[in-house]
Formats: sequence, C-alpha cells, structure tokens
Amino acid sequence: MRIDIISVLPELMESPFQTSILKRAVDKGVAEVHFHQLRNWSVNKHRQIDDEPYGGGAGMVMMIEPIDKCISELKAQRDYDEVIYLTPDGVTLNQKIANTLSIKNNLIFLCGHYKGIDQRVRELHITKEISIGDYVLTGGELAACVLADSVIRLLPGVLNDEQSALTDSFQDDLLSPPIYTRPEVYKGLEVPKILLSGNSKMIEDWRYEEAVRITTEKRPDLL
Ligand code: ADE
Repeated sequence: MRIDIISVLPELMESPFQTSILKRAVDKGVAEVHFHQLRNWSVNKHRQIDDEPYGGGAGMVMMIEPIDKCISELKAQRDYDEVIYLTPDGVTLNQKIANTLSIKNNLIFLCGHYKGIDQRVRELHITKEISIGDYVLTGGELAACVLADSVIRLLPGVLNDEQSALTDSFQDDLLSPPIYTRPEVYKGLEVPKILLSGNSKMIEDWRYEEAVRITTEKRPDLL
C-alpha cells in the first residue's frame, strides 16, 4: 500500500512512521508513506497556501490552487483508490472503515488547517471525508497518523501474529475480554481460574461471555 500525505506540517507526522510497528511495515516495504509539503505547490512567492474567506468572517481558508496542483500531479503518476480529507465534519472513523481502506493500493490523505479547505477542492478531488472523533484538533496531521496506523496494522505481514488483528476489539462489534499474564496472584488479585484450566473450549466460551458483558456495560451502542 502507498499513502501520500499532503500537509503544511509534514514534520509533525514523521516519528510515528519511524517507530515500532509502523516503522517495520515501512522497512519491509508493506507500506510506503510519502509526505508532500503543500507550500511547494503554492502559486505565490510567499509560499502562501491560505487566504481570507469570501463573504468575510474569522479564520483563513486553504486555497484551491496549491491543493489541486499537488493532487493532480500525484494522480498523473498513478491511480488512487481514495482521496481522503481529514476533517472534524467527516464520517467518524471506525474499524469497518479501516478494514475497507486496508485492501486499497493507493491512498491520498489531505490534512486540513485553519478554517478548512475551499469547498471546490471537495468537489474536484475528495472521495471520502474522515473525522477521528467529535472534537477539533489544530490540524488534520494527527488524525492522518491515526488513520494510517489503523489501516497499516491490518496489512498482511505487519503484525507478527496475524490472528491478533482479527481478535481486536471492534472486529466483531464486541470489545475485547480481559487478559492476564504472570504472576497468577498479585496483591491478592487472582487470574480467573478458567484461564488456567487448559480447557480451550471453556476458555473460548468464557472470553466470548466476558466480551458481551463488557460491551453491554461500556458500549451498548455496539450490540
Ligand atoms: N482536523 C481537526 N480535527 C479533526 C478531527 N477530529 N478529525 C479529523 N481531522 C481533524
């Protein structure tokens, strides 16, 4: 998979892809992540990419021309499955969206800033608008990292134990059951006996029941 990320602050997104699992995915060539400094497509000598809103009002608007030039240049090089704009008014990211994106080949992420982008960019290029939650960040960069992480970890060969992505919370609309490791007793707190029983059918049933119980308690909306 190739992800092209367009932003005025690409440096904000470098370290997540240079660390741990995402780094391994990049090193293995399973995921290619390319950053594009939007100011390089500015059409004026001050490298300006935003301007005042027509009709007045507070805040600046990201101009159409630099974004169109950047995206058009990328599109001339390869086909993209989706051009995604990270914005608080997009659809809220969930596991299903991550799963769907994980089977695509080429994605563009556009990070918004200021008041947002000229509406015509959406009409011209954007195929999906994604929010990572009902709160406003300073820009789309951290949201782009969250989206990329949720997608890249699903690519074959990224997680050591391929099973583990399939048993994540949300994969079957249930939260995960509790998990334990050694020691068996800590400050009087015991590991549930069933997990020590060696009976895999009973353990599997217990985990399912716990997942349903926890989901009912914390996130009944998922059921
Ligand atoms: N940009 C600013 N806030 C955001 C959010 N919640 N999700 C995605 N992009 C954003």
